[in-house]
Amino acid sequence: MTDVVLDLADLPPGTMKTIDLGGTEVVVANVDGACFAFGGICPHEGGSLGDGELRGAVVTCPWHGARFDVRTGAVIDGYTPEPVPVFEVRTEGEQLRVICR
Ligand code: FES
Repeated sequence: MTDVVLDLADLPPGTMKTIDLGGTEVVVANVDGACFAFGGICPHEGGSLGDGELRGAVVTCPWHGARFDVRTGAVIDGYTPEPVPVFEVRTEGEQLRVICR
């Protein structure tokens, strides 16, 4: 399993991108210049969070509207008490490395 490296130019502030991190669907989000990576599958019934809406540091699931804090994975509200996992990211010059463990 290997890390995923993205060009920061492809992830402007306020946007998200879904990646495959060693077989796991992971979403990378740019929140006002700070990037975060979190599990892309909603723990409620499996909606793809990368297809949801990002507002500030909050992603809303496109299926039933559960909301998660992309910085911590914590549930803000919605149909599930379960958080999403978060993954380590590192900025390396003009690139962003999502760490695969
Ligand atoms: S699948 Fe995400 S809120 Fe239902």
